[in-house]
Amino acid sequence: MSTFSRRRFLEETSKLAAGAGLSTIPISESMDIQKKADANDKIGIGLIGCNNMGWSNLREHLLLPEVECIALCDIDDAVLQKRAAEVQTLTGKKPQIYKDFRRLLENKQVSAVIIGTPDHWHCLNMVYACEAGKDVYVEKPLANSIEECNIMVAAAKRYNRIVQVGQWQRSGPHWQSAIEYVQSGKLGKISLVKNWLYYTSHKELTPVNDTPPPPGVDYDMWLGPAPRRAFNANRFHGKWRYFWDYGGGIMSDWGVHLLDMAFNGMKSNTPKSVMSTGGKFSFPNSAMQTPDNQFTTYEFDDYAITWEHVVGSTPGYYGNNYCGVAFVGKNGTLVVDRDKWRLLPEIENAQFLLPAMPEQKGSNKDLSLHVKNFVDCIKSRKKPVCDVETARNVAVNAHLGNIALKTGRKMYWDNANNKFVNDKEANNHITPIYNNSWKIPRVL
Ligand SMILES: NC(=O)c1ccc[n+]([C@@H]2O[C@H](COP(=O)([O-])OP(=O)(O)OC[C@H]3O[C@@H](n4cnc5c(N)ncnc54)[C@H](O)[C@@H]3O)[C@@H](O)[C@H]2O)c1
Repeated sequence: MSTFSRRRFLEETSKLAAGAGLSTIPISESMDIQKKADANDKIGIGLIGCNNMGWSNLREHLLLPEVECIALCDIDDAVLQKRAAEVQTLTGKKPQIYKDFRRLLENKQVSAVIIGTPDHWHCLNMVYACEAGKDVYVEKPLANSIEECNIMVAAAKRYNRIVQVGQWQRSGPHWQSAIEYVQSGKLGKISLVKNWLYYTSHKELTPVNDTPPPPGVDYDMWLGPAPRRAFNANRFHGKWRYFWDYGGGIMSDWGVHLLDMAFNGMKSNTPKSVMSTGGKFSFPNSAMQTPDNQFTTYEFDDYAITWEHVVGSTPGYYGNNYCGVAFVGKNGTLVVDRDKWRLLPEIENAQFLLPAMPEQKGSNKDLSLHVKNFVDCIKSRKKPVCDVETARNVAVNAHLGNIALKTGRKMYWDNANNKFVNDKEANNHITPIYNNSWKIPRVL
């Protein structure tokens, strides 16, 4: 056993024995691991959480010649075996497989990890990975609470890691050109930025009884720091995002993608106040805990940014597809979605207030570009296009929406001091309670 893994083993053992929090590996040691990884021509990737998005991310990484897949980790044997066979078919090499991500992190051939686990795991996975000297591509939303997001920012800094977050619209050329247009001032005074998702996936979750976990599933490692409860298929693969213990519903799942573009366009992510309302309005009998309709307003000095989602309906605004962002200006509105952006000019005295411009098409390569940016940054040690702090800022805003919904009040968030203004109840929502002997990581 190497010095590092021996140390980790002792650390884990003493943590379990003493119930103590996570202690840290000296930075010099984690740097040493990085140097060894750098000596390799290839970037060795380990994937943690292989079912859906984690797998899509890995496939994109494997299209790059400098990347190889060293290891996979999942708590579900069925997923793990399926993905291992697929990696072998794609690359001709069998990856090492793990059911405990801490063991994968001990593998020195792994220099970077992709984290595709449910949101309640991101913080532990990412902080441990940084501590072990790995660079990290972690899925959005950055974490399932405000405090976990802050801890992840601190970990990336402390261990000097490259961290890219999966908000891939940041890398989309048509999103970037839309934002450039917004920031050019041509739309005139912008009074509203509207964000929406009208959605039919997982329309209604029919309640089902608790059952034993499926064979080959390490359910304890799936729950991790979440409260202990019996297995229920509605809370497992894919659908966990509609239960507060593991995700923030559509407000954070999709909100971070689109609100990121809105805040970016307006060059501000610190609203004066946040309000939100919603509920299970479309499917009152659904097993989903999080609202299937939600309407959130971010108030700034002289404009508002709004979020709305509706489950069970597809037509969005302005004749657009299921999701979009609209920057509403005095001279016209810019509407952007995952496929394109276009202008809807105002007309005054029979004149268009904006010069004609054809629809601007998307590249369909946004995710590939995002992954390439991560790999380029691993080599250059530059900041990725969606670094951990950028992702923290938008995830915090998504969580503010959910906290406003839960408290039923207008929220005033003091970003500099990381707390709500005079609101004890809201402040209780900042830090999650960790269960099952897991401790919230502390970055010293
Ligand atoms: N960027 C995007 O466009 C996008 C799209 C979809 C999902 N996502 C994000 O990707 C993440 C995963 O979502 P999903 O839809 O793929 O979920 P999923 O439930 O389909 O997959 C999660 C996988 O993680 C595994 N897992 C759970 N706990 C684990 C642990 N402790 N160690 C190892 N594996 C573990 C599960 O067994 C499962 O295979 C979420 O954060 C989600 O928000 C991002």
